[in-house]
Amino acid sequence: MKYNTKETFKIYIQHAKKVKGLVFVIFLCSLFATILGDLITPLFYKHFFDTLIKDVSFDVKKALLIGILFKILFLSLITRGLWALGDFLSSKSLIVIMRDIFQSCFEYTHKHAINFFNNNFVGSLVKQVNRFAWAFSHLWNTFFWDFIPLVIAIVGICIVLSTQNLLLAGIIFLWILILCVSTFFYSRVKLPLDVALSASDSEISGRLADSFTNHENVKFLNGFVLESKSFWNTTTKWHDRAKKSWYFDAWFRVFQGGMLVGLQIGILYFAILLWEKGVFTVGDFALIQAYFVTLSFKIWELKHIIRSYYEQTANAEEMTKILLTPHEIEDKRKAEALSVTDRRIIFKNASFAYHKTRKIINKLNLEIHPHERIALVGHSGAGKSTIVKLLMRQYELTSGKIFIDDQSIDNVTQESLWASMSLVPQDPILFHRTLIENIRYGRPEASDEEVIEAARLAHAHEFISEFPEGYDTYVGERGVKLSGGERQRVAIARAILRNAPILILDEATSSLDSESESLIQDALDNLMKEKTVIVIAHRLSTIMKMDRILVLEKGTVVEEGTHKSLLRKKNGIYKGLWTLQAGGFID
Ligand SMILES: Nc1ncnc2c1ncn2[C@@H]1O[C@H](COP(=O)(O)OP(=O)(O)OP(=O)(O)O)[C@@H](O)[C@H]1O
Ligand SMILES: [Mg+2]
Repeated sequence: MKYNTKETFKIYIQHAKKVKGLVFVIFLCSLFATILGDLITPLFYKHFFDTLIKDVSFDVKKALLIGILFKILFLSLITRGLWALGDFLSSKSLIVIMRDIFQSCFEYTHKHAINFFNNNFVGSLVKQVNRFAWAFSHLWNTFFWDFIPLVIAIVGICIVLSTQNLLLAGIIFLWILILCVSTFFYSRVKLPLDVALSASDSEISGRLADSFTNHENVKFLNGFVLESKSFWNTTTKWHDRAKKSWYFDAWFRVFQGGMLVGLQIGILYFAILLWEKGVFTVGDFALIQAYFVTLSFKIWELKHIIRSYYEQTANAEEMTKILLTPHEIEDKRKAEALSVTDRRIIFKNASFAYHKTRKIINKLNLEIHPHERIALVGHSGAGKSTIVKLLMRQYELTSGKIFIDDQSIDNVTQESLWASMSLVPQDPILFHRTLIENIRYGRPEASDEEVIEAARLAHAHEFISEFPEGYDTYVGERGVKLSGGERQRVAIARAILRNAPILILDEATSSLDSESESLIQDALDNLMKEKTVIVIAHRLSTIMKMDRILVLEKGTVVEEGTHKSLLRKKNGIYKGLWTLQAGGFID
């Protein structure tokens, strides 16, 4: 599998560049804080202990020691100050960059075409955006507060010690190298174990969600024992993987601990030899002990650094792919806004297929005249909704063209194309916001009075007024707290408010009972005035009054005419449907 780690970093760096001045200062803070705190301060401890055993009078010694103490205090204060400054600047930059990352992921993802959303779970997209932003934060913190101090400490300590004794510095360096390399390989081996474990984690979450969502099926179809057994199998898989990963981790900690003990005893023994030769002082013992503590802390952290690198780049991977995927449908470079004058729509030899194996729309030729109200009729799956989607350029035609007032829809901006239409979709989805916000979404600048008037016309006002919180009622995720018919009425109110020149009703009243439908029909008739209208309906009684009815089969128009003229056709498809329905439904 090809990872896009390089691209992930390119994107991150692009964002970080916006605060590059701050990034440089943070880098300096981390660098100098490590040098002062971990490398230079221990030198003063060495000096302190050497002074302690100096052959001078007690008073002089005391004054000298207090002098050193003040120097250590001064250094510590500067070190702490640098850490604090770095910390503050890091937070300041991080929140700006993360907001930037969130926003650009949100905007880029939104601009993908409908097909992209059909192929990706919304829940998973939400997770990817979050993971991408937080991965940056983890990598950022690891880099500035773990990685830089580790490198500086190792290099610095080896340099300082080499001025004292080259062999000692060499041994320590070699030992650290072995530890670093083994930690690196450990992390490489551990990674697939962690990936497998996290897949098991997700599987548990997925099973839990699927089973709880289906709690009614589990109860009423007596599936509890089956569910419980299958959940046990899932958790057992997790158990086996966790065992491998966690045990491996525990064994490595034993190895790492052993190596560090070896290093500590080794350097102390070496120090004794040097002391024997008179090269090493008591202060040197204090120095190497302080350095050892620093090194062991930092090396212990090394595996977290490597792990964090792999884990976080893996976390960012999916979103990176999304950000690297070009938008499926984009405005042409010089696209202009659609200018709607007459409201004429023309499909010219339009063909379309979701998959190569099956053409849905086949050389469709259709002219919808200005202010004409047409109805599309046909069996379920005939391609009626697809025609609407093509008109809205949610998919590109495989061949042919669609024109609105002589402008090809692929030559105009998508924003202006959508602004020219009001759509009441087959299954309206609402925002988890209040009813008033949902209706107003059709025209954000509309006043409260206009919203309420639209709701009245759509006969939504009646049920909205009965909610304790009226128009301020939250409708639940996707609008689940409303019935199908109520959701449709909200969508109709939204379309009434939007009042765009082209109106599309895709089964807009299918969830309503006949009585509510006939009430709304008046509002819809009003709404249709002066507009070019496309209505899709299975209930033929709702389209009788249309100017023209088109019967669709296998992606082309097979019959067209008014209700009356179509009924006059002998053996006509529409006639057949009408007889079957006797004013009812077709399916
Ligand atoms: N996103 C998609 N990917 C693949 N195939 C699709 C997609 N959307 C629709 N189809 C297929 O295209 C065909 C036409 O679908 P469309 O929704 O246009 O039918 P329709 O005439 O509106 O039917 P209905 O009356 O049931 O709403 C169907 O067979 C459907 O399975
Ligand atoms: Mg449909």
